Amino acid sequence: MNSRDFIIRSNMTQFNYTDWITYFEKNDKNRLQVDFSGDKPLSEALKKLIFPSVQAFQKGEGSDGTFLMNTVKDYVRAGGPAEYQKAMQLFIKEENWHSAYLKMYMDHYGIKTANRSVLDTIFRKLRHLGGLKCEVTILITGELIALTYYDALSKCTDSKALKQICKQMLDDELPHIIFQSYTLSRLQPGFMDILLRIFIMNVTLFFVWCAYHNVYQTGGYCFSRFIKENNRYLRQSVCLSEKMARKHAV
Ligand SMILES: [Fe+2]
Ligand SMILES: [Fe+2]
Repeated sequence: MNSRDFIIRSNMTQFNYTDWITYFEKNDKNRLQVDFSGDKPLSEALKKLIFPSVQAFQKGEGSDGTFLMNTVKDYVRAGGPAEYQKAMQLFIKEENWHSAYLKMYMDHYGIKTANRSVLDTIFRKLRHLGGLKCEVTILITGELIALTYYDALSKCTDSKALKQICKQMLDDELPHIIFQSYTLSRLQPGFMDILLRIFIMNVTLFFVWCAYHNVYQTGGYCFSRFIKENNRYLRQSVCLSEKMARKHAV
């Protein structure tokens, strides 16, 4: 099954939070060992091309999740499933591993971490505007965009270590999207929520393209492919949430 239909066809669409805990715990025992032995040095031009976006994504993946976990605790206290708290903790841990993989790659080339990333700052501020539904809606937008980003990034260089990292990111982000879609399905998604998801996605895409179009173009994405693929992933997530919500209602 390729990533194009993974979101709707995976058997993970049947998971509840207990299954997600088992999944994340299993992943945690098998973390990627990044192998730099086959890597030739990157040219200065390639470094200039990839590292601004790698720094931004490294920052974005590295959140300690304090605000998110407080929102989750409030949701559980208000009657949400208790297992969600542990599942979310393990999810944040996995995201932090993503940040660590990118940092390993940056360290290998002597690239410093970014003090701040404008996109990440906007994302964090937006996430804090509402409750759990708002947090997860913003979070999943970033995860959906990550699918095209890591695909493009992996094609920008011949670096085996970077390809290895990007593959791991894609292997992890697709299940993350199913996990977040499941949560949205439990929060009574309505028509306005779907419109909001489409709006947030497309505004974000505009800024991501402005900032990192060079990486996308080098990785084989023109603007229309970038918009189309991201919106196709979004549609799959929306359909999945609606399908799951109908199941909860029975
Ligand atoms: Fe991630
Ligand atoms: Fe993720």
